[in-house]
Amino acid sequence: MVAGFETTSAVLAWFIHAMSEYPDVQHKMKEELMSVSVNQNLTLNQLDSLVYLDCVINEILRFHTITSGTVRTLTVEDRLPKSNFQLSKGDSVLMPFYNLAHDTQHWSIDTESFAPERFLNEDKNHHLYTLLPFGVGHRQCIGQALARFELKAIIARMLQRVTFGDGGPKINSGGHFTGLTIQPKHVGVTTGFS
Ligand code: HEM
Repeated sequence: MVAGFETTSAVLAWFIHAMSEYPDVQHKMKEELMSVSVNQNLTLNQLDSLVYLDCVINEILRFHTITSGTVRTLTVEDRLPKSNFQLSKGDSVLMPFYNLAHDTQHWSIDTESFAPERFLNEDKNHHLYTLLPFGVGHRQCIGQALARFELKAIIARMLQRVTFGDGGPKINSGGHFTGLTIQPKHVGVTTGFS
């Protein structure tokens, strides 16, 4: 339940907060939606063609990394490739998703900027392991295709009907709290129907 529900709902909460903070991004997403469907019907092919929406989902997953990392336990001795650091059998190694996604060595556009366009431009060919929202290897997230599909369908449907706005500093101040997932803390948005 936690793996399948809390993760995707956290992304949606971050998404709603992001829309209230970045109206230009929201506007661009609405334009893209209008360009593929004027009557609000969406076929699978039309949903697939929403490239900017994919970029926004990737940027939410990069900027907020819903889980802070994952751990692997070594079954054999090994050395880290660059530093030659010795690792022993039984050692636990943390893969820190947030640090990787915000490491300026690996990204061209400022990692502290919310910039979905990075995935179309300078950061299009980012290193595979700098963005691991679903982990990697044998134990990577089993539900990632479903999660991406759910997110895309729900976000597209929401933005066809609703425009999110900033509810003001008292209630929409952001921040986060970390439980099993990283969740936004103060999300107070306005909703307009358009
Ligand atoms: C945006 C949504 C989601 C995120 C960010 C996410 C993230 C993750 C991460 C980071 C892991 C650990 C991967 C690793 O250690 O390499 C994981 C594992 C897992 N996830 Fe997800 N997940 C999401 C959605 C889902 C959904 C929708 C389901 C099921 C319907 C699901 C089921 C699982 C399961 C069962 C595992 C354990 C896999 C294993 O240990 O073999 N997740 N997920």
